[in-house]
Amino acid sequence: MAAGTAVIGSLQFGYNTGVINAPQNVSIISCQRSLFWVQLSHHWQYGTLTALWSLSVAIFSVGGMFGSFSVGIFVNRFGRRNSMLMANVLAFIAALLMGFSKMAASYEMLIIGRFIVGLYSGLSTGFVPMYVEEISPTSLRGALGTLHQLGVVIGILVAQVFGIESILGNATLWPLLLGFTLLPSVLQCVLLPLCPESPRYLLINCNEESKARTSEIHLRGTEDVSEDMQEMREESLQMKKEKAVTIPELFRSSVYRQPIFVAIMLHLSQQLSGINAVFYYSTGIFERAGVSQPVYATIGAGVVNTAFTLFVVERMGRRPLHLIGLMGMAVSAVFLTYLWCSVQDQLRWMSYVSIAAIFSFVAFFEIGPGPIPWFIVAELFSQGPRPAAIAVAGFCNWSANFLVGMCFQYQLCGPFVFIIFTILLLGFFVFTYFKVPETKGRTFDEISAGFRQSAGRGSDKYSAPEEFSTLRGDDPDL
Ligand code: GLC
Repeated sequence: MAAGTAVIGSLQFGYNTGVINAPQNVSIISCQRSLFWVQLSHHWQYGTLTALWSLSVAIFSVGGMFGSFSVGIFVNRFGRRNSMLMANVLAFIAALLMGFSKMAASYEMLIIGRFIVGLYSGLSTGFVPMYVEEISPTSLRGALGTLHQLGVVIGILVAQVFGIESILGNATLWPLLLGFTLLPSVLQCVLLPLCPESPRYLLINCNEESKARTSEIHLRGTEDVSEDMQEMREESLQMKKEKAVTIPELFRSSVYRQPIFVAIMLHLSQQLSGINAVFYYSTGIFERAGVSQPVYATIGAGVVNTAFTLFVVERMGRRPLHLIGLMGMAVSAVFLTYLWCSVQDQLRWMSYVSIAAIFSFVAFFEIGPGPIPWFIVAELFSQGPRPAAIAVAGFCNWSANFLVGMCFQYQLCGPFVFIIFTILLLGFFVFTYFKVPETKGRTFDEISAGFRQSAGRGSDKYSAPEEFSTLRGDDPDL
């Protein structure tokens, strides 16, 4: 229940990603543009309106960048759970601004609302994986960690469905579509006070052993939590040897340099895979593929996206799933480009093969590159550097998201845009193969001990992969 409550924040992130880019938003943009923008300023040119609309789309990622970067300011001062609770104030403000923008005839309210909901989403992409990973038993960290991404994809799907013209994606009801974000926030505010604070935060950060124990008992549903407490105490002891870790120190210290580099690259691999080129510009892509009802094809992509997120990470480990995902996406992208460039125009039924290629691109994304980067950063770092690392990785993710949204517009590059993504995907595949350690089944302390060891051996130099042999899954015990 605690993980489920937390991922309402992820759902909000997904919803607000999908809501503005859902296919029906084309109609929102066009009808509302006339109804909403033009109604305000009759003299405005189409170019100005388009620019303002693009701004209200893109400003979400800018808010996300600021939000994700600020995660560290909150989590150590107020705790993980209370930070999530407080962030809802932003969602309320954003929902009201966006929901009443039409009534108030103010485009500024819409743009500011999008920025604020971006701030909220940026904070959520840090708070949620951190809380969920910290409360999960080691054996379930992968499965529960995936819930964040599941929340995101369900949010996208709900937005796509609500965005259908006959539901909320029409000239009259669009303020409800944007203001809907209020409801999940109310639900989260009711449920969060019933969830325990992260025992790791209570023990390691606040030194409150008995509160941590109570919280752990509450979470595990058993009085026998001595093993978990012992593991946390060991991490706590280890942390006392470390100084408090700031963002610049992550890059200066040889112990953290390697895991932060891995974390950043994994997040870049998620965004530069091109997934949001599909989610932002799916209508254009499906139209080009000759699909007569692109709206439903996009919702189909949302369904595939959700279904494949349910893949169980615990069964195979993070490394193989990420590698399979990246390679599968690269192959799908090559296939897609080939279809578009050669046979597409000659054979009508090939449009269905194109849909299948896009679905397979999305499915492979959700096998690894979708969920894994979000929770692996919490695993790569111990309690001390974790908030700073999550902030840096989240910032890189949102910046790359912004970049893809702005630069890789399908309309600008045509089908060849997927060749760019293929090259990037192959690069990330090679990086993951050589540099990313396996974290499945390891305690946080064991994972950071692996990095400390390799940093020690490799002195200040970036360590070779062999030094992670036990972390890469070669350990016979795993
Ligand atoms: C991940 C990405 C997000 C993307 C989504 C698609 O959560 O961070 O940008 O839209 O997956 O499922």
